[in-house]
Amino acid sequence: MLKIGTQEDWVARARAVLPGGGFGNFDPGIVIREGQAARVRDEDGREYVDYLIGSGPMLLGHGHPEVMEAVFEQLPRGQTFFASNAPGIALAEEIVAAVPCAGQLRYVSSGSEADMYAIRLARAFTRRDKIVKFEGGYHGMSAEAQMSLAPTRAANFPQAIPDSAGIPDSVAAEMLVAPFNDPAYIRSLLAEYGDQVAAIIVEPLQRIVPPEPGFLGVLRAEADRYGILLIFDEVVTGFRFAYGGAQEHYGVTPDITTLGKIIGGGFPLAAIVARTGIMAHFDKARVGAEGWLMQLGTLSGNPVAAAAGLKSLEILRRDGAYDRLRQRGRQVMDAATKALDGVGARYHIVGDDTLFEVVFTDRRPRDYREVLVANAEKTSRFNTALRQAGIFKSPGKTYPSLALTEDDLALTRTAYRAAAAAIAE
Ligand SMILES: Cc1ncc(COP(=O)(O)O)c(C=O)c1O
Repeated sequence: MLKIGTQEDWVARARAVLPGGGFGNFDPGIVIREGQAARVRDEDGREYVDYLIGSGPMLLGHGHPEVMEAVFEQLPRGQTFFASNAPGIALAEEIVAAVPCAGQLRYVSSGSEADMYAIRLARAFTRRDKIVKFEGGYHGMSAEAQMSLAPTRAANFPQAIPDSAGIPDSVAAEMLVAPFNDPAYIRSLLAEYGDQVAAIIVEPLQRIVPPEPGFLGVLRAEADRYGILLIFDEVVTGFRFAYGGAQEHYGVTPDITTLGKIIGGGFPLAAIVARTGIMAHFDKARVGAEGWLMQLGTLSGNPVAAAAGLKSLEILRRDGAYDRLRQRGRQVMDAATKALDGVGARYHIVGDDTLFEVVFTDRRPRDYREVLVANAEKTSRFNTALRQAGIFKSPGKTYPSLALTEDDLALTRTAYRAAAAAIAE
């Protein structure tokens, strides 16, 4: 066990050895010691209701007893093998049965990797290079995914703007960036480039912005028209929006889906799924050296992660799990609404019952640029006040979990009232 230090000690130690003082993910000023159910505690022992839930995976809450039992059963049998193992095979069977577009599955360790390979897979299958992505869409850290993820200046579509140093211009040249929720733009873009495009990659609900009715259907139809593969990045939405993910929830089936977060039960595990004819490109025996996409990874299909994921999915299959999750989400949204209406704030709650955010804008945002115009100063004051009142969340998203209790909700209501008062001042 590490010696207990104050949070200040840990923050100082982190500053010496970690660039930016942290892991790059989250506010480095807070160091989390432990999590139980829907609460986390920092190194000073301060407790928070957790709406970050590990950036999405901990849908069942921290330390769920049944998930822990599955992990403790697996651990003495071995941590990693770099070889096929029963938990990984059983989890693949379960995912393939659950996700409408899935015929086969390939494991990786992170959502970033899954998206990188999904793009490569589409290129291998179609023998084309161009990729359509949406401005503000998040698909991990590959060079392609870093295009127009969070641009601070508005370029003309479809020009791609890199959001990271170190990316060659040649990558931008193969990317076509489009505004989310604009079917007319997609139609005109593909009328020009359709026969050069390998894939359209999209978060079915982009960050927090839902697809407008029919938008995903237009992507499906346009992809079919030009022989393009439609990739749904369901790293966030998979097993969250419904057991079959956003594709089940919205009733639109993509060609390729990427999954992460929930399927590893809090351990590093992600996956690419598609029908077998597409997945064949991972199998040299089926497609030959020319069509083969080489893919391997030290921790892919890790048995501990697979055991945790398998048990998590079993729990999510039980009666009413998704109804309960959505009800919890609506209760949290309701708490925010009551508090903000009480101070006459102008805002919208944007997203889905299972993930959402309060956005301080006059108009409900439909795409990245409309989220960007939200009042940043008010957002920051609101989030700071929420943290002070015992809410742990990311600056841009609120994730309810199935572990939320009436006590957690009571604390949440008080916190939203405090935060609403803070922005009303
Ligand atoms: C939609 C989406 N895709 C991909 C990723 C990348 O996943 P990971 O952080 O596991 O690499 C994320 C991470 O938050 C995500 O939200």
